Amino acid sequence: MIIPKPTTFTLMPGSFALSESCMIELGTDNQEVRCVADYLRSVLAAEPCGLTLDIGVAERSAIRLRLSDELTEAVDPGAPVDERYELGIFDDLIELVAAQPVGLVRAAQSLHQLVLSHLRIDADTRELVGGSVDLRALHISDRPRFGWRGMHLDSSRHFFSVAEVKRFLDLLAAFKFNVFHWHLTDDQGWRIEIDAYPMLTSVAAERAGDEPSRNGFYTKDQVRDVIAYAAERHIDVVPEIDLPGHTRAVLAAYPELSCTGGPFAVSTRWGIHKDVLCLGNPATTEFVERVLAEVAELFQSQFVHLGGDECPVDRWGACVKCQRLVAAVGLTDESELQTWFSRRAADYLVGVGRTAVFWDEVLDGGLPAGVALMSWRGVEYGQRAAALGHDVVMAPESHLYFDYRQTSQGLDPGADWAEPTTLAQVYGFEPTAGLNDPPAIARVLGAQANVWTELIPDMARLESMVLPRMCALAEVLWSDPSPRDWAEFRNRLTTHASWIRSIYNPHESL
Ligand code: ACM
Ligand code: ZN
Repeated sequence: MIIPKPTTFTLMPGSFALSESCMIELGTDNQEVRCVADYLRSVLAAEPCGLTLDIGVAERSAIRLRLSDELTEAVDPGAPVDERYELGIFDDLIELVAAQPVGLVRAAQSLHQLVLSHLRIDADTRELVGGSVDLRALHISDRPRFGWRGMHLDSSRHFFSVAEVKRFLDLLAAFKFNVFHWHLTDDQGWRIEIDAYPMLTSVAAERAGDEPSRNGFYTKDQVRDVIAYAAERHIDVVPEIDLPGHTRAVLAAYPELSCTGGPFAVSTRWGIHKDVLCLGNPATTEFVERVLAEVAELFQSQFVHLGGDECPVDRWGACVKCQRLVAAVGLTDESELQTWFSRRAADYLVGVGRTAVFWDEVLDGGLPAGVALMSWRGVEYGQRAAALGHDVVMAPESHLYFDYRQTSQGLDPGADWAEPTTLAQVYGFEPTAGLNDPPAIARVLGAQANVWTELIPDMARLESMVLPRMCALAEVLWSDPSPRDWAEFRNRLTTHASWIRSIYNPHESL
């Protein structure tokens, strides 16, 4: 049975034998539906399913994709409407029905998971037993609870290749996540090509002493390729350009953007760095605007994450230019500079049609109207912001930092600077807990898990950190909150262990 758990799921008598003699049939000539058919075809053809189906008019048993206006009605007010879908498996037909193409993608993801969890592969020949996968007849009617079901990846501390990012996106798709928060810049490496500042990639993308494969950057064509791959899965790619702190890599390339003038090296140690962008320097404003212009042109997502976390004010306090700015704009002291900066950066994004998201430190000085908050130090910042009318995404380190250890037993490779976060804790997380006021609850867009990669040098380790915890988070974000039955979830997860292990490298606790 599927993870995340569908809204309704009814088994029926009978079964469908899915084999290469089946076809994928389009109930429409809509081009987007054709793209969904191509997506379904590609995931069923991939290992370990290995079933290559033709797309066309079916003379034989088929998987049919159909759009239906009926499904746009009768949706809970405020619920995200467009991902709703129905999946029917009958003796001679599998039918995917949705109001929108995105719903058909979610239906295809459910079907893919059903196929994966029913695969019987001969151990010797590696072939599908009997040449088909027998699926029980059933009917599913399903829709998500939250519109922001996110996974974050830090590509700065360790660089992940385009192929690895796509593999990560496949994992998001497997559990119906719809937001990929891509942390592209930090003290330890700048990872995105920006035409106006070529040294961001020739200097700021290289960390001394690191394995060459863990340095690097994404060209604009590579970013477009990742966005297109995500779009096929109806996953939004939200880029993060972390400002004005966590910018040592920028200063290594452009020391004139610092308060002291440098010189600096791309950082080789983790933690909080005091050298940050000099806000009193007009060249910094120009830098931020030119970078954001290129980012907004490249990415399609409504939201652009501007960071804002962990920015010490020490250098601003001792900098003539920053102190001149404090006086000129009438601030009390340098502690108000970050708010001033965030306001202007958020306004700039509005000018290019986008919405800023910030880490929760930005709430401390007053959050600009119309921007969203990502609550990481706890949920209380998100609760406060929601009460003030801001959209919020919950990503508290207490429950959703998947770089932290998963158990307190044995050798767990996770970050040991925090308490472990168990699968059960993730499953028990409730994004709206502590909020009673319906308008504030409606401001909780959803939640996401963050994966910082200081201690995650490669894909195998990344997978073992996120699996199986992201299965639990998927259910928190997609499925109805009641009933939530931990024992039943744990059993259901066990039915997926085999295919997950055959493709990925999950933690031993799966
Ligand atoms: C963060 O963990 N610094 C957002
Ligand atoms: Zn300064």
